[in-house]
Amino acid sequence: MGVMSSKAYFEEVAAQWDTMRQGFYSEAVREKAYAVAGVQSGQTAADIGAGSGFITEGLIARGLRVIAVDQAKAMLAEMRRKFAGCESVDYRLGHAESLPLEDAEVDYVFANMYLHHVESPPEAIRELARILKPGGKLAITDLDEHTFEFLRSEHHDRWMGFKREDVARWFEEVGLRDVVVDSAGDSCSAESCCGDQAASVGIFVASATNRTRRTS
Ligand SMILES: C[S@@+](CC[C@H](N)C(=O)[O-])C[C@H]1O[C@@H](n2cnc3c(N)ncnc32)[C@H](O)[C@@H]1O
Repeated sequence: MGVMSSKAYFEEVAAQWDTMRQGFYSEAVREKAYAVAGVQSGQTAADIGAGSGFITEGLIARGLRVIAVDQAKAMLAEMRRKFAGCESVDYRLGHAESLPLEDAEVDYVFANMYLHHVESPPEAIRELARILKPGGKLAITDLDEHTFEFLRSEHHDRWMGFKREDVARWFEEVGLRDVVVDSAGDSCSAESCCGDQAASVGIFVASATNRTRRTS
C-alpha cells in the first residue's frame, strides 16, 4: 500500500468514501465550518478537496452555488452521480498547487480534511486565499497534530495533523484577517486495518476573512 499515491488511493475509494467518512467524523464538523464562515444563501463557495461532496452537500442545501474541486476524477464522478439534476454545482478537476479558479472568484472557501494531504500546506493556503473575494471567508477543518503513523500508511495522510498556531501563522502570512483557530467540537476516529490500534484525533476549525484590498 505504501507505494500507492494519495491520488490513486482516493480514485480507488471514491465510491465508498461516504461510508468511510461517516466512521471518521460527523456532520458536526461541517456545521461548525458553515457557522464560522457565516454562509448566506445566494452566494458562491468553493469546496476544495471536495471528495464525494460532504461539504458541498450542506452548502447546496443552504442555497449556495458551489465550485467543487478535487484531484481525483472518480470523486468528481461520484458527486455528479449524487447531485444529478442539481444545477448549483460546478465540478472542476484540479490540484492544490494551481486551483482551477480565477483570483477572487468566490465568497467562501471550504476545505475539509484536505490540508493534511497536500504537499505544502502554506502554499495550499496561499492558493485558497487567492481565489477568495475581498472580504470573503475561509474555513479549513482538519486534524490536530497526532502520532498515529497508521493514518499515514493506511489512509495516505501526508501530514500527521497540525499545530493550531502553525495554521494561524500560515493564514496571517498570506494577509488573511480575523484569524481564529478553534476546536470544531468533534474528533476523528479511525481503526488500523491490523486491528491493533485505534486513533481519536481532535479536529480544529481555522477561519479568517480576506483583506478588502491589496496592501502590497
Ligand atoms: C480525506 S478526503 C476529504 C473529502 C471531503 N472534503 C470530505 O470531507 O469528505 C481528501 C480529498 O482531497 C483530495 N486531495 C488530496 N490532495 C489533493 C491535492 N493536492 N489537490 C487536490 N485535491 C486533493 C483527495 O482526492 C480527496 O478527495
